[in-house]
Amino acid sequence: MSGERTAPGLPAGRIGKELITADEITARTAELGDRITADYQGRRPLLVGVLKGAVMFMSDLARAIRIPVEIDFMAVSSYGESTQSSGVVRIVKDLETDIRDRHVLIVEDIVDSGLTLRYLCELLTARQPASIEICALLVKDGAQADARYVGFPIPPDFVIGYGLDLAELYRELPSIHVFEPDA
Ligand code: IMP
Repeated sequence: MSGERTAPGLPAGRIGKELITADEITARTAELGDRITADYQGRRPLLVGVLKGAVMFMSDLARAIRIPVEIDFMAVSSYGESTQSSGVVRIVKDLETDIRDRHVLIVEDIVDSGLTLRYLCELLTARQPASIEICALLVKDGAQADARYVGFPIPPDFVIGYGLDLAELYRELPSIHVFEPDA
């Protein structure tokens, strides 16, 4: 596995320290799946994955839940190709499911400022679901997160892998690494 990837406009740097191993992700996802299974007994939650970063987590989490679920996806864009939040959230793909009276569980890869989730929650709440909760794999220290289910709190570094990208690269890494920018 090479840590070096270059492309015009890509922040220069490399795959840094492994922060969370694939085994740790698997174990924590199983625990979250158990909690969600218990909390949603007798209901059929709609898992709403936030593309593209949550795709790996969504597919593993759905398989760790042992009650029937439905899945759907939304795509929002917040960062463009930078590692800094632009403060602008744009819906790129909306849900196909009518969520009125549904138990919605938003599945997100990472909460940084919390801006993306706050916007999504407001938007989806206006559609009158029966309930709405958040399951976030990673929550950065200092994030404004109202997530009921959290995989791992992490330091406020920029991380890559297991769905998380930098300018569309590194999503395929099986574990989560810190991105190490050139000094
Ligand atoms: P927020 O709106 O600042 O909470 O940012 C949320 C979104 O920004 C996430 O869904 C990711 O797509 C992206 N993001 C935030 N921090 C990171 C990171 O460390 N690595 C990769 N993407 C990130």
